[in-house]
Amino acid sequence: MNIKIIGTGSAVPKLRVTNDDLSKMMDTSDEWIKSRTGIEARHIAVEETTTGLAVEAAKKALAMAAVSPEELDLIIAATVTADKFFPNLSCEVQSALGAVHAVSFDISAACSGFLFGLDTAARYLKQGGYNKALIIGAETLSKIMDWNDRSTCVLFGDGAGAAILSAEEGEGEGILGMIQGSDGGRGMVLNCSNRPVNNPFVTNDAALSYTSMNGQEVYKFAVKTVPEAITQAVEAAGFSMDEIDLFILHQANYRIIESVAKRLHQPMEKFPTNLQECGNISAASVPILLDNVNNHGRIGKGNKIVLAGFGAGLTWGATVLVW
Ligand code: ACO
Repeated sequence: MNIKIIGTGSAVPKLRVTNDDLSKMMDTSDEWIKSRTGIEARHIAVEETTTGLAVEAAKKALAMAAVSPEELDLIIAATVTADKFFPNLSCEVQSALGAVHAVSFDISAACSGFLFGLDTAARYLKQGGYNKALIIGAETLSKIMDWNDRSTCVLFGDGAGAAILSAEEGEGEGILGMIQGSDGGRGMVLNCSNRPVNNPFVTNDAALSYTSMNGQEVYKFAVKTVPEAITQAVEAAGFSMDEIDLFILHQANYRIIESVAKRLHQPMEKFPTNLQECGNISAASVPILLDNVNNHGRIGKGNKIVLAGFGAGLTWGATVLVW
């Protein structure tokens, strides 16, 4: 059975905020942000919501795949910034689409979330009984940033990406190698606390918590773990690294992507990026970039593609697929 991506879609908020715009609000500069990260702008939600962006991306992916919402058996949304504690984002999307037959649940694995969703859905589809799945990565990270903390808020953006997975007869195409990992022991290097326990039996005046990151520790984790995960996934798929046509990596930092390319002995031309325009959108980064590349005609039938994510948890995931 081939488990193939047959449609992609993406959506970002209308408001585009440049590094220069930020430098008018805080003590930062285009030079600092661009030279350390490669980021030049990001899209920030004003009227948009995580659900609205997810639905827009999903509709585009369904249209490309020529799949109706009623045909979906499964919806998995990866997010750390759903609009509600419950119902989950997937059920909200299911309702908006009218995907009445879909089992719908969320995955929380931060920037690896889309990869974890893809892996989970692929296993459902391989097992049988499920034929079409919608996987979404969607975030409005701007609401969990401390906009007085220049070391984090300049790095992130908002948006959503989606893909339709289909189980089709045959062998040797679609998703072939999948690797996932977690290291909760290092979780505090990148974290954002939820509400503290607060009820009639305990007094808790803790202020709302925002994203906090030890950038250098995350950097060291990424440049070591991502090449290892990609190597394992490529080996699991039975390919050599040189056979891979495209590496679609989580868009956190251009220097991390350059370092991964170097460690894998692959040219940067194989590593498309959109972080210049989008910043880091956590679970949405990989599917948005996949959709951008797909819409620009950079993916052809038979191409071998690596998708890789890494982030809070710590978590990481890599998948190899033949288009
Ligand atoms: N503008 C100007 N100066 C700044 C800014 C800013 N936006 N932010 C921090 N600085 C200052 C700091 O205050 C510090 O000043 P000091 O030396 O006077 O104390 C100086 O710049 C250097 O700060 P560092 O944090 O040491 O800068 P570094 O070179 O490590 O770069 C960065 C920071 C870009 C975050 C880098 O560590 C990095 O990219 N790490 C990886 C982070 C990442 O990829 N995170 C996301 C992945 S996981 C996920 O996606 C959820």
